[in-house]
Amino acid sequence: MLYLLDTAKIEEIEKAFDLYPLDGVTTNPSIIAKENKDFIPLLKEIRNIIGEKKMLHVQVLAEKAEQMIKEAQYLNDKISGDLFIKIPVTKEGIKAIKNLKTEKIKITATAIFTPQQALMAAKAGADFVAPYVNRIANTNVSGIKVVREIVQLIKENNLKTNVLAASFKNIQQIHEVTLNGAQAITAGAELTGKLLEHSGTKNSVEQFIKDWEAVYGKDILTY
Ligand code: E4P
Repeated sequence: MLYLLDTAKIEEIEKAFDLYPLDGVTTNPSIIAKENKDFIPLLKEIRNIIGEKKMLHVQVLAEKAEQMIKEAQYLNDKISGDLFIKIPVTKEGIKAIKNLKTEKIKITATAIFTPQQALMAAKAGADFVAPYVNRIANTNVSGIKVVREIVQLIKENNLKTNVLAASFKNIQQIHEVTLNGAQAITAGAELTGKLLEHSGTKNSVEQFIKDWEAVYGKDILTY
């Protein structure tokens, strides 16, 4: 399982990469816009924090395939390390993915709401497909079922594409997509932290400390 962080907030990225075994960062135009900083310098700052080997997913803005391809090439030239260009699964997006496949540019097909969009993107050559689990759920369709069907279709068609499930409202959704075969998830810093929070763990640790201190005082081992 790959865990990615869905944010462009520098402080969140620094803190989360210090704490957790994360595999990369995903962004989209809305996430970038929230920071209101220059685009390329912000991406370079993120790259500096996470290092060259971690994945960085960055989305194009154009709607026409030719322009998407130019943007992808531009971003690929400007940003070093393990970069994935996110392309929405519109008709023009699929054309762009198909064409970019011939270059050594890695692609994440994004804004996926149906299994057929994912299959088409995978056939076009996408390295990752990103179904939007909670946004799908908001259309009265199970986002988990969509992920399961995408995983099944990719397997049955012998494609190498991985599923990067995105858009979560709670950790139960994250847990269910991991059980249903998604190879990667991306979530915000708060939700990622919640994957580790449990009152049982907190209470147990508090009790351990209390028992220890009752006998040994506040001394802890020093090296
Ligand atoms: C992935 O990068 C998506 O853009 C993102 O997860 C969407 O999440 P949201 O539906 O919470 O905005």
